[in-house]
Amino acid sequence: MNEVIANIKNRRSIRRYKPEQLSDEELSGILEAGQFAPSGGNNQTTHLIAIQNKDVLRDLKRLVEQELSKMLIYEGMYKSLEASIKAAKKGGYDFIYHAPTLVVAANRTGYGNAMADCACVLENMMLAATSLRIGSCWINQIHWLDENPVTRTFMRQHGLAENETICGSLALGYSAMKEQPPLKRTGNPITYVR
Ligand SMILES: Cc1cc2nc3c(=O)[nH]c(=O)nc-3n(C[C@H](O)[C@H](O)[C@H](O)COP(=O)(O)O)c2cc1C
Repeated sequence: MNEVIANIKNRRSIRRYKPEQLSDEELSGILEAGQFAPSGGNNQTTHLIAIQNKDVLRDLKRLVEQELSKMLIYEGMYKSLEASIKAAKKGGYDFIYHAPTLVVAANRTGYGNAMADCACVLENMMLAATSLRIGSCWINQIHWLDENPVTRTFMRQHGLAENETICGSLALGYSAMKEQPPLKRTGNPITYVR
């Protein structure tokens, strides 16, 4: 099979990480793959904040747990958010699965292509990571908390600009999971019109 397509098909979300940090070369290669993503109008406004400082990650995890645990669960809530709130209320919640690196993807607040551009960047980085045998997982908790004053102030102190919104983030690290085959695809239907 074509190498690129095989890499796409073999990528999995990794939810357990070894404590060892990526090398600087691996991290910069992954970030650069993100920078090479397409963007609407070639605007290239996605801002990547790569967090590796252990104290900063610890504080961010504590704040995410604290703020999620204050949220109320309601009927019909997005299931993953509900699961995160429940885990946060229990305590000891590590929303990045002990990954040593978190890359936050932000873009201009109110920009129509913000999420699409960030998603292209994040996917490029996930694929680059997979090709380097580095685990990754899209992490949405700080996107959900984007307007939360506590986590937003914290992120503002760590590189987020005032006019930026957090669209998503990526956990990165060496996988501590057994290799998993790709999940069966049962959705994303295709209609051919020929
Ligand atoms: C927009 C988006 C948000 C996601 N948010 C999370 C998340 O917050 N935490 C998590 O563990 N996985 C998250 N995922 C990963 C998905 O759960 C995962 O891609 C899906 O279950 C398919 O599994 P696979 O990536 O191993 O193929 C997210 C994926 C996407 C595309």
